[in-house]
Amino acid sequence: MSTRHIKQGKYAKIRKFETPDELPEEYKNLLKKMLFVQGDTEFASVQQHLEWQERAPTPEDKWVLSRIVADEVRHGLTMTRLLKQFGSEGESMVQTLLSRQIGEHTLESFNIEFKNWESVVAFTCFVDRVGLYQLEAFQECSYAPLAREMPLMLNEEKLHIGFGYNGLKKVIEDENYPGNEQTAQEAVNFWVPRALDMFGHSESKNAILAVELGIKRWDNVEMRERYYKEISQLCDNLGLEVPDINYNRHIL
Ligand SMILES: [Fe+2]
Ligand SMILES: [Fe+2]
Repeated sequence: MSTRHIKQGKYAKIRKFETPDELPEEYKNLLKKMLFVQGDTEFASVQQHLEWQERAPTPEDKWVLSRIVADEVRHGLTMTRLLKQFGSEGESMVQTLLSRQIGEHTLESFNIEFKNWESVVAFTCFVDRVGLYQLEAFQECSYAPLAREMPLMLNEEKLHIGFGYNGLKKVIEDENYPGNEQTAQEAVNFWVPRALDMFGHSESKNAILAVELGIKRWDNVEMRERYYKEISQLCDNLGLEVPDINYNRHIL
């Protein structure tokens, strides 16, 4: 089947949707919500990272952080461009997105300022990785304009998480970097529960509907479990402990 056709769910095998006008009402409402949340995470992470652009430990880290900021702005603008196709309601969602400050974002992970460098790199290692999972879930999206954005966004996210993982490794191994194994472990303990929460409620009706409509490929439980397995291995490679999957969780 070509990439122009929907792969799964109740619209399987028909051509992907190309414009908001073609979308059934429940599909349109859910997609708008998902674009909004995705856009909100992108602009929020810009606000979080900007604080550290000048404070990063080396010129190279400053450069990568600047690149991350530029990428996240581009991702946010991609979501606003898609939302604007939904007419006046989409436009007003964009206005809300652009006006939100830290403390007003939808997900808890994006309302927290980074308290030290370990926190910056643990965030990009664990929280951006959830972003990667969400984007991979959109890769075959039945709404073609969203699916087409995924390859570039995925490539950029991979750079972010690589920077996060290597950054944590340097914190642990390189004495020129701030922090040590213990503070790296503290950052892991802090961010992993927030990252696991980001997959959403296990019983989420919207997530199940998104799979049925072919918007996403996998439901929240499946993605969270796969993610946990991956990060358990990463923590192990770093010589750190992965927190229990239920430790300090707010969204189950
Ligand atoms: Fe992003
Ligand atoms: Fe990112």
